[in-house]
Amino acid sequence: VALIPAGAHAEDFPVKNKTITIVVPYAAGGPTDRVARDLAEALRKPLGDVSVVVDNTAGAGSTIGTARVARATPDGYTLLLNHISMATMPTMYRKLPFSVSSDFEFLGMVNDVPMTLIGRPTLPPNNYKELSTWIAQNKGNITLGHAGLGSASHLCGLLYQSAIKVEMTSVPYKGTAPAMTDLIGGQIDLLCDQTTNTTGQIEAKKVKAYAVTTLQRLRTPALKDLPTLDESGLKNFQVTIWHGLYAPKGTPAAVQKKLNDALKQALKDPEFVKKQEGLGAVVVTDGRIDPAGHKKFVLAEIDKWGAIIKAAGSYAD
Ligand code: MLT
Repeated sequence: VALIPAGAHAEDFPVKNKTITIVVPYAAGGPTDRVARDLAEALRKPLGDVSVVVDNTAGAGSTIGTARVARATPDGYTLLLNHISMATMPTMYRKLPFSVSSDFEFLGMVNDVPMTLIGRPTLPPNNYKELSTWIAQNKGNITLGHAGLGSASHLCGLLYQSAIKVEMTSVPYKGTAPAMTDLIGGQIDLLCDQTTNTTGQIEAKKVKAYAVTTLQRLRTPALKDLPTLDESGLKNFQVTIWHGLYAPKGTPAAVQKKLNDALKQALKDPEFVKKQEGLGAVVVTDGRIDPAGHKKFVLAEIDKWGAIIKAAGSYAD
């Protein structure tokens, strides 16, 4: 009788000596990576003290890393942490090597993260009103960084250009960690990025902060005085970046359940919640924490952002 290798049974998942890899489809050190590393830490105990690591597979928005997980062995040991890109890619890319709706198991959502519009430290304007004047005076000569077509930073930049009807030169990076390095170095003028990556830089006054992309101002001390883009005249401008955990289609139901149970415990981990809230993120507590609620939400977001992106049209470079 051929011995079935330990761990081949879903009930054994996860076995002690196997590592669970959370693939992050953006460069290390960015906002997606930040959420993944905090989550990996919080998942270890609920999964029985197994090793949970983060591996970055960046490039082409998040399509390369997402494709890697779509074709990984569906055994629960290779997972994807991605965000609103799962809703923008189907519209942004004519041909994707995977289908968001049918090539993944939706394991549950993690958090919602606001975004901030920030500038290089040498940018002349010191507040949003002055930024608007500066943009009007420098039309055609402004650079905006982002993490590739369909990324959160690209989506925010696209919507911002469309809302103020000013086209900027977009500079793509493998994530907003390298984009932030160039912004701080003065190589690019503007960046719209998640508070999980910008709060520290704003506190350290490494960048200029102009506005937030939520309808309500934020409570985080370093961000609470930033106006919303909505109150600054861009009526209803709202971009919040939700993060979710995914496994390849065909991952056994028993494995999915163990991962979702562990996720629910991780989201209640006071350490995890404190880290996330300190960076302006809000941990999910509604029905999106369940696989069905997660999938339903993402499918609706694909339609919602598809329509918004198409309406923004010519700014989608
Ligand atoms: C983005 O979508 O802008 C990404 O979150 C950037 C990143 O995580 O590096």
